[in-house]
Amino acid sequence: MQAAGQNSALVDNFGRTVNYVRISVTDRCDFRCVYCMDEEMQFVPRAKLLSLEEISTIVRAFADLGVVKVRITGGEPLIRRNIIKLFRDIGRLEALNELTLTTNGSQLPKLAGELKDAGVKRINISLDSLDPVKFKRLTRVGDLSKVLAGIDAALATGFEKIKINSVILKNRNDDEILDLVRFAGERGMDISFIEEMPLGVIGDHDRLEAYYPSDAIKSDLEERYTLIPTTESTGGPSRYFKIVETNTRVGFISPHSHNFCDNCNRVRLTCEGRLLLCLGQEHSVDLRRVVRTYPGDMDKLKQAIRASMSIKPKGHEFDLSAKPVIFRHMNMTGG
Ligand code: GTP
Ligand code: 5AD
Ligand code: SF4
Repeated sequence: MQAAGQNSALVDNFGRTVNYVRISVTDRCDFRCVYCMDEEMQFVPRAKLLSLEEISTIVRAFADLGVVKVRITGGEPLIRRNIIKLFRDIGRLEALNELTLTTNGSQLPKLAGELKDAGVKRINISLDSLDPVKFKRLTRVGDLSKVLAGIDAALATGFEKIKINSVILKNRNDDEILDLVRFAGERGMDISFIEEMPLGVIGDHDRLEAYYPSDAIKSDLEERYTLIPTTESTGGPSRYFKIVETNTRVGFISPHSHNFCDNCNRVRLTCEGRLLLCLGQEHSVDLRRVVRTYPGDMDKLKQAIRASMSIKPKGHEFDLSAKPVIFRHMNMTGG
Protein backbone atom coordinates (compact mmCIF):
# COMPACT_ATOMS: atom_id res chain seq x y z
CA MET A 1 0.00 0.00 0.00
CA GLN A 2 1.21 3.49 -0.76
CA ALA A 3 1.76 6.07 1.94
CA ALA A 4 -0.42 9.17 1.87
CA GLY A 5 0.82 11.80 -0.54
CA GLN A 6 2.93 9.23 -2.39
CA ASN A 7 1.71 10.49 -5.76
CA SER A 8 1.84 14.19 -5.02
CA ALA A 9 3.50 16.42 -7.58
CA LEU A 10 7.21 17.20 -7.38
CA VAL A 11 7.66 20.69 -5.96
CA ASP A 12 11.01 22.27 -5.13
CA ASN A 13 11.98 24.73 -2.39
CA PHE A 14 11.20 27.67 -4.66
CA GLY A 15 7.63 26.50 -5.31
CA ARG A 16 8.34 25.29 -8.84
CA THR A 17 6.56 22.13 -9.96
CA VAL A 18 8.65 19.65 -11.92
CA ASN A 19 6.58 17.91 -14.58
CA TYR A 20 9.19 17.46 -17.34
CA VAL A 21 12.18 15.13 -17.51
CA ARG A 22 14.89 15.22 -20.15
CA ILE A 23 16.81 11.99 -20.57
CA SER A 24 20.19 11.58 -22.21
CA VAL A 25 20.31 7.96 -23.38
CA THR A 26 23.90 8.09 -24.60
CA ASP A 27 26.79 10.55 -24.50
CA ARG A 28 28.00 9.31 -27.88
CA CYS A 29 27.26 11.01 -31.13
CA ASP A 30 28.08 10.71 -34.81
CA PHE A 31 28.88 14.46 -34.82
CA ARG A 32 31.32 16.52 -32.77
CA CYS A 33 29.70 19.98 -32.71
CA VAL A 34 32.29 22.54 -31.67
CA TYR A 35 30.14 24.11 -28.92
CA CYS A 36 29.07 20.76 -27.49
CA MET A 37 32.18 18.58 -27.42
CA ASP A 38 35.92 18.84 -27.46
CA GLU A 39 37.76 17.24 -30.36
CA GLU A 40 38.94 14.31 -28.26
CA MET A 41 36.28 13.00 -25.91
CA GLN A 42 36.23 10.15 -23.41
CA PHE A 43 32.85 8.45 -23.53
CA VAL A 44 31.19 6.59 -20.69
CA PRO A 45 31.98 2.84 -20.70
CA ARG A 46 28.96 0.70 -21.51
CA ALA A 47 28.70 -0.92 -18.06
CA LYS A 48 28.16 2.50 -16.51
CA LEU A 49 25.30 3.40 -18.83
CA LEU A 50 21.77 2.88 -17.62
CA SER A 51 20.19 -0.01 -19.50
CA LEU A 52 17.06 0.73 -21.51
CA GLU A 53 15.08 -1.22 -18.90
CA GLU A 54 16.53 0.89 -16.09
CA ILE A 55 15.60 4.05 -17.99
CA SER A 56 12.03 2.79 -18.48
CA THR A 57 11.76 2.02 -14.78
CA ILE A 58 12.95 5.49 -13.84
CA VAL A 59 10.52 7.10 -16.29
CA ARG A 60 7.67 5.09 -14.74
CA ALA A 61 8.63 6.40 -11.32
CA PHE A 62 8.59 9.97 -12.62
CA ALA A 63 5.22 9.43 -14.30
CA ASP A 64 3.83 8.19 -10.97
CA LEU A 65 5.12 11.39 -9.39
CA GLY A 66 3.29 13.70 -11.76
CA VAL A 67 5.71 14.09 -14.68
CA VAL A 68 3.77 14.43 -17.93
CA LYS A 69 6.49 15.23 -20.46
CA VAL A 70 9.61 13.27 -21.38
CA ARG A 71 12.23 14.32 -23.90
CA ILE A 72 14.81 11.82 -25.13
CA THR A 73 18.18 13.40 -25.93
CA GLY A 74 21.87 12.48 -26.06
CA GLY A 75 24.58 12.74 -27.43
CA GLU A 76 22.66 11.48 -30.39
CA PRO A 77 19.84 9.36 -28.96
CA LEU A 78 19.07 7.56 -32.20
CA ILE A 79 22.49 5.89 -32.39
CA ARG A 80 21.85 3.92 -29.21
CA ARG A 81 21.16 0.28 -30.05
CA ASN A 82 17.48 -0.81 -29.76
CA ILE A 83 16.43 2.72 -28.85
CA ILE A 84 13.04 2.24 -30.50
CA LYS A 85 12.20 -0.28 -27.77
CA LEU A 86 12.60 2.48 -25.17
CA PHE A 87 10.33 4.79 -27.16
CA ARG A 88 7.73 2.02 -27.41
CA ASP A 89 7.89 1.28 -23.68
CA ILE A 90 7.63 4.91 -22.65
CA GLY A 91 5.06 5.66 -25.36
CA ARG A 92 2.70 3.20 -23.66
CA LEU A 93 2.63 5.10 -20.35
CA GLU A 94 -0.80 6.64 -20.07
CA ALA A 95 0.21 9.28 -17.55
CA LEU A 96 2.50 10.97 -20.09
CA ASN A 97 1.03 13.65 -22.35
CA GLU A 98 4.15 14.01 -24.37
CA LEU A 99 7.07 11.93 -25.52
CA THR A 100 9.48 14.04 -27.54
CA LEU A 101 12.92 13.79 -29.04
CA THR A 102 15.88 16.09 -29.73
CA THR A 103 18.13 14.72 -32.46
CA ASN A 104 20.78 15.78 -34.94
CA GLY A 105 18.62 14.21 -37.65
CA SER A 106 21.19 11.90 -39.19
CA GLN A 107 19.31 8.69 -38.36
CA LEU A 108 15.82 9.92 -39.20
CA PRO A 109 15.70 8.46 -42.73
CA LYS A 110 15.92 5.06 -41.03
CA LEU A 111 13.88 5.66 -37.88
CA ALA A 112 11.28 8.40 -38.43
CA GLY A 113 8.43 5.95 -39.15
CA GLU A 114 9.14 3.76 -36.12
CA LEU A 115 9.36 6.81 -33.87
CA LYS A 116 5.98 8.01 -35.00
CA ASP A 117 4.50 4.53 -34.50
CA ALA A 118 5.92 4.51 -30.96
CA GLY A 119 3.96 7.64 -30.12
CA VAL A 120 6.44 10.48 -30.71
CA LYS A 121 4.49 13.52 -31.87
CA ARG A 122 6.97 16.39 -31.80
CA ILE A 123 10.66 16.32 -32.61
CA ASN A 124 13.42 18.92 -32.47
CA ILE A 125 16.20 18.68 -35.02
CA SER A 126 19.48 20.57 -34.66
CA LEU A 127 20.66 22.44 -37.76
CA ASP A 128 23.15 25.30 -37.56
CA SER A 129 24.06 25.81 -41.21
CA LEU A 130 22.75 25.17 -44.70
CA ASP A 131 26.19 25.44 -46.21
CA PRO A 132 27.94 22.02 -46.41
CA VAL A 133 31.38 23.46 -45.73
CA LYS A 134 30.28 25.53 -42.73
CA PHE A 135 28.15 22.65 -41.50
CA LYS A 136 31.22 20.44 -41.51
CA ARG A 137 33.25 23.08 -39.69
CA LEU A 138 30.59 23.39 -36.96
CA THR A 139 29.97 19.67 -36.53
CA ARG A 140 33.60 18.68 -37.28
CA VAL A 141 32.49 15.44 -38.98
CA GLY A 142 28.81 15.88 -39.84
CA ASP A 143 27.36 15.51 -43.30
CA LEU A 144 24.72 18.14 -44.12
CA SER A 145 23.08 16.01 -46.81
CA LYS A 146 22.27 13.31 -44.24
CA VAL A 147 20.59 15.82 -41.94
CA LEU A 148 18.59 17.34 -44.79
CA ALA A 149 17.49 13.82 -45.77
CA GLY A 150 16.52 13.29 -42.12
CA ILE A 151 14.43 16.45 -42.09
CA ASP A 152 12.72 15.38 -45.33
CA ALA A 153 12.00 11.97 -43.83
CA ALA A 154 10.52 13.53 -40.70
CA LEU A 155 8.34 15.86 -42.78
CA ALA A 156 7.15 12.98 -44.95
CA THR A 157 6.30 10.93 -41.84
CA GLY A 158 3.89 13.59 -40.64
CA PHE A 159 4.84 14.45 -37.06
CA GLU A 160 2.56 17.03 -35.46
CA LYS A 161 5.39 19.48 -35.02
CA ILE A 162 9.01 19.63 -36.09
CA LYS A 163 11.24 22.33 -34.65
CA ILE A 164 14.69 23.29 -35.83
CA ASN A 165 17.28 24.25 -33.18
CA SER A 166 20.15 26.49 -34.22
CA VAL A 167 23.04 27.55 -32.02
CA ILE A 168 24.33 30.83 -33.47
CA LEU A 169 28.02 31.72 -33.09
CA LYS A 170 29.33 35.13 -34.08
CA ASN A 171 31.34 35.07 -37.31
CA ARG A 172 30.63 31.38 -37.84
CA ASN A 173 26.97 31.20 -38.78
CA ASP A 174 25.32 34.50 -37.82
CA ASP A 175 25.12 35.30 -41.54
CA GLU A 176 22.76 32.33 -41.97
CA ILE A 177 20.00 33.43 -39.62
CA LEU A 178 17.68 34.65 -42.38
CA ASP A 179 18.35 31.58 -44.53
CA LEU A 180 17.65 29.21 -41.63
CA VAL A 181 14.36 30.95 -40.88
CA ARG A 182 13.36 30.83 -44.52
CA PHE A 183 14.31 27.15 -44.74
CA ALA A 184 12.19 26.31 -41.68
CA GLY A 185 9.29 28.57 -42.68
CA GLU A 186 9.01 27.14 -46.20
CA ARG A 187 8.59 23.70 -44.66
CA GLY A 188 6.11 24.72 -41.98
CA MET A 189 8.63 24.16 -39.17
CA ASP A 190 9.25 26.36 -36.13
CA ILE A 191 12.82 27.34 -35.33
CA SER A 192 14.59 28.19 -32.07
CA PHE A 193 17.82 30.11 -31.78
CA ILE A 194 19.96 29.16 -28.80
CA GLU A 195 22.64 31.17 -27.04
CA GLU A 196 25.71 29.00 -26.51
CA MET A 197 26.17 27.82 -22.93
CA PRO A 198 29.56 27.34 -21.24
CA LEU A 199 29.33 23.64 -20.50
CA GLY A 200 32.61 21.75 -20.58
CA VAL A 201 35.98 22.88 -21.82
CA ILE A 202 36.16 23.15 -25.61
CA GLY A 203 39.29 23.90 -27.60
CA ASP A 204 37.59 25.28 -30.69
CA HIS A 205 36.73 28.85 -29.76
CA ASP A 206 36.39 31.40 -27.00
CA ARG A 207 32.72 31.28 -26.02
CA LEU A 208 32.65 34.93 -25.02
CA GLU A 209 34.09 36.06 -28.34
CA ALA A 210 31.53 33.90 -30.20
CA TYR A 211 28.53 35.14 -28.19
CA TYR A 212 25.71 36.30 -30.45
CA PRO A 213 22.79 37.45 -28.27
CA SER A 214 19.16 36.65 -29.04
CA ASP A 215 18.31 40.35 -29.39
CA ALA A 216 20.85 40.67 -32.21
CA ILE A 217 19.23 37.71 -33.95
CA LYS A 218 15.83 39.28 -33.49
CA SER A 219 17.00 42.56 -35.04
CA ASP A 220 18.52 40.68 -37.98
CA LEU A 221 15.19 38.93 -38.55
CA GLU A 222 13.19 42.14 -38.32
CA GLU A 223 14.96 43.38 -41.44
CA ARG A 224 12.92 40.90 -43.44
CA TYR A 225 10.14 39.57 -41.23
CA THR A 226 7.36 40.85 -38.99
CA LEU A 227 7.59 39.23 -35.54
CA ILE A 228 4.63 39.28 -33.17
CA PRO A 229 5.21 38.19 -29.56
CA THR A 230 3.10 35.21 -28.49
CA THR A 231 2.43 33.86 -25.05
CA GLU A 232 2.52 30.30 -26.38
CA SER A 233 4.82 27.88 -24.67
CA THR A 234 5.84 24.29 -25.35
CA GLY A 235 6.81 23.93 -21.72
CA GLY A 236 10.40 24.82 -22.63
CA PRO A 237 12.47 27.98 -22.14
CA SER A 238 11.85 29.40 -25.63
CA ARG A 239 10.23 32.82 -25.94
CA TYR A 240 8.18 32.56 -29.10
CA PHE A 241 7.26 35.07 -31.78
CA LYS A 242 4.92 34.47 -34.68
CA ILE A 243 6.47 35.20 -38.07
CA VAL A 244 3.66 36.80 -40.05
CA GLU A 245 5.14 36.09 -43.49
CA THR A 246 5.63 32.34 -42.93
CA ASN A 247 2.90 31.64 -40.39
CA THR A 248 5.46 29.70 -38.32
CA ARG A 249 7.17 30.60 -35.07
CA VAL A 250 10.63 31.62 -34.05
CA GLY A 251 11.79 30.95 -30.49
CA PHE A 252 14.70 32.37 -28.54
CA ILE A 253 16.44 30.34 -25.86
CA SER A 254 18.47 32.99 -24.10
CA PRO A 255 20.17 31.69 -20.97
CA HIS A 256 22.45 34.77 -20.87
CA SER A 257 20.24 37.62 -22.00
CA HIS A 258 16.78 36.55 -20.70
CA ASN A 259 17.06 34.19 -17.77
CA PHE A 260 14.19 31.71 -17.56
CA CYS A 261 15.10 29.80 -14.40
CA ASP A 262 12.18 31.21 -12.37
CA ASN A 263 9.84 29.12 -14.50
CA CYS A 264 11.98 26.00 -14.54
CA ASN A 265 9.80 22.89 -14.65
CA ARG A 266 12.40 20.26 -15.49
CA VAL A 267 15.14 17.93 -14.33
CA ARG A 268 17.51 15.81 -16.37
CA LEU A 269 18.82 12.28 -16.23
CA THR A 270 22.33 11.72 -17.57
CA CYS A 271 23.19 8.55 -19.46
CA GLU A 272 24.92 7.31 -16.29
CA GLY A 273 21.79 7.74 -14.22
CA ARG A 274 22.66 10.97 -12.44
CA LEU A 275 19.55 13.00 -11.83
CA LEU A 276 20.70 16.58 -12.43
CA LEU A 277 18.53 19.20 -10.83
CA CYS A 278 19.80 22.05 -13.05
CA LEU A 279 21.63 22.13 -16.37
CA GLY A 280 24.03 24.78 -15.12
CA GLN A 281 24.85 23.35 -11.66
CA GLU A 282 26.17 20.06 -10.34
CA HIS A 283 23.48 19.28 -7.73
CA SER A 284 22.50 15.68 -8.43
CA VAL A 285 21.29 12.37 -7.08
CA ASP A 286 22.63 8.99 -8.23
CA LEU A 287 19.55 7.12 -9.44
CA ARG A 288 21.65 4.35 -10.98
CA ARG A 289 22.77 3.40 -7.50
CA VAL A 290 19.15 3.30 -6.35
CA VAL A 291 17.90 1.10 -9.24
CA ARG A 292 20.89 -1.23 -8.94
CA THR A 293 20.81 -1.52 -5.15
CA TYR A 294 17.04 -2.04 -4.97
CA PRO A 295 16.05 -3.64 -8.28
CA GLY A 296 12.31 -3.41 -8.89
CA ASP A 297 11.66 -1.29 -5.78
CA MET A 298 9.63 1.63 -7.15
CA ASP A 299 9.09 3.13 -3.72
CA LYS A 300 12.84 3.54 -3.12
CA LEU A 301 13.17 5.20 -6.50
CA LYS A 302 10.26 7.56 -5.92
CA GLN A 303 11.59 8.44 -2.49
CA ALA A 304 14.97 9.37 -3.97
CA ILE A 305 13.34 11.47 -6.70
CA ARG A 306 11.10 13.27 -4.25
CA ALA A 307 13.98 13.96 -1.89
CA SER A 308 15.98 15.45 -4.78
CA MET A 309 13.57 18.37 -4.96
CA SER A 310 15.12 19.85 -1.85
CA ILE A 311 18.45 20.35 -3.62
CA LYS A 312 17.14 21.83 -6.88
CA PRO A 313 19.07 25.10 -7.15
CA LYS A 314 17.48 28.44 -7.92
CA GLY A 315 19.11 28.66 -11.34
CA HIS A 316 22.25 28.61 -13.41
CA GLU A 317 25.02 31.19 -13.05
CA PHE A 318 26.56 31.03 -16.51
CA ASP A 319 29.33 33.57 -16.99
CA LEU A 320 30.97 33.59 -20.40
CA SER A 321 33.78 35.84 -19.23
CA ALA A 322 34.89 33.53 -16.39
CA LYS A 323 36.77 30.25 -16.57
CA PRO A 324 34.32 27.33 -17.08
CA VAL A 325 32.98 26.01 -13.80
CA ILE A 326 30.90 23.18 -15.21
CA PHE A 327 33.21 20.58 -16.71
CA ARG A 328 30.40 18.36 -17.98
CA HIS A 329 29.87 18.74 -21.73
CA MET A 330 26.38 19.12 -23.17
CA ASN A 331 26.41 15.59 -24.61
CA MET A 332 26.02 14.20 -21.07
CA THR A 333 22.67 15.91 -20.68
CA GLY A 334 21.42 16.87 -24.15
CA GLY A 335 20.63 20.34 -22.89
P1 GTP B 1 10.43 22.17 -26.25
O1 GTP B 1 10.14 23.50 -25.67
O2 GTP B 1 9.78 21.03 -25.58
O3 GTP B 1 10.24 22.13 -27.74
O4 GTP B 1 11.91 21.85 -26.03
P2 GTP B 1 13.20 22.68 -25.78
O5 GTP B 1 13.35 23.76 -26.78
O6 GTP B 1 13.30 22.98 -24.34
O7 GTP B 1 14.19 21.50 -26.03
P3 GTP B 1 15.43 21.22 -26.92
O8 GTP B 1 15.88 19.85 -26.57
O9 GTP B 1 15.13 21.47 -28.34
O10 GTP B 1 16.47 22.23 -26.37
C1 GTP B 1 16.79 23.40 -26.97
C2 GTP B 1 17.86 24.11 -26.18
O11 GTP B 1 17.30 24.63 -25.00
C3 GTP B 1 19.02 23.23 -25.79
O12 GTP B 1 20.23 23.87 -26.12
C4 GTP B 1 18.86 23.13 -24.33
O13 GTP B 1 20.08 23.04 -23.71
C5 GTP B 1 18.18 24.41 -23.96
N1 GTP B 1 17.48 24.20 -22.71
C6 GTP B 1 16.40 23.42 -22.51
N2 GTP B 1 16.04 23.44 -21.21
C7 GTP B 1 16.93 24.26 -20.58
C8 GTP B 1 17.11 24.67 -19.23
O14 GTP B 1 16.38 24.29 -18.32
N3 GTP B 1 18.15 25.50 -18.96
C9 GTP B 1 18.97 25.92 -19.93
N4 GTP B 1 19.94 26.76 -19.57
N5 GTP B 1 18.85 25.56 -21.20
C10 GTP B 1 17.85 24.73 -21.54
N1 5AD C 1 25.18 25.61 -25.71
C1 5AD C 1 23.95 25.72 -26.25
N2 5AD C 1 23.35 24.73 -26.94
C2 5AD C 1 24.04 23.60 -27.09
N3 5AD C 1 23.71 22.46 -27.72
C3 5AD C 1 24.72 21.59 -27.55
N4 5AD C 1 25.73 22.16 -26.86
C4 5AD C 1 25.32 23.42 -26.55
C5 5AD C 1 25.90 24.48 -25.83
N5 5AD C 1 27.11 24.38 -25.27
C6 5AD C 1 22.42 22.27 -28.40
C7 5AD C 1 22.41 21.45 -29.63
C8 5AD C 1 21.01 20.91 -29.65
C9 5AD C 1 20.52 21.02 -28.26
C10 5AD C 1 20.07 19.79 -27.63
O1 5AD C 1 21.58 21.54 -27.53
O2 5AD C 1 22.63 22.17 -30.79
O3 5AD C 1 20.17 21.64 -30.48
FE1 SF4 D 1 26.08 15.56 -31.20
FE2 SF4 D 1 24.07 17.23 -30.56
FE3 SF4 D 1 26.45 17.47 -29.36
FE4 SF4 D 1 26.21 18.07 -31.95
S1 SF4 D 1 25.15 19.10 -30.22
S2 SF4 D 1 27.87 16.84 -31.01
S3 SF4 D 1 24.76 16.66 -32.68
S4 SF4 D 1 25.09 15.77 -29.19
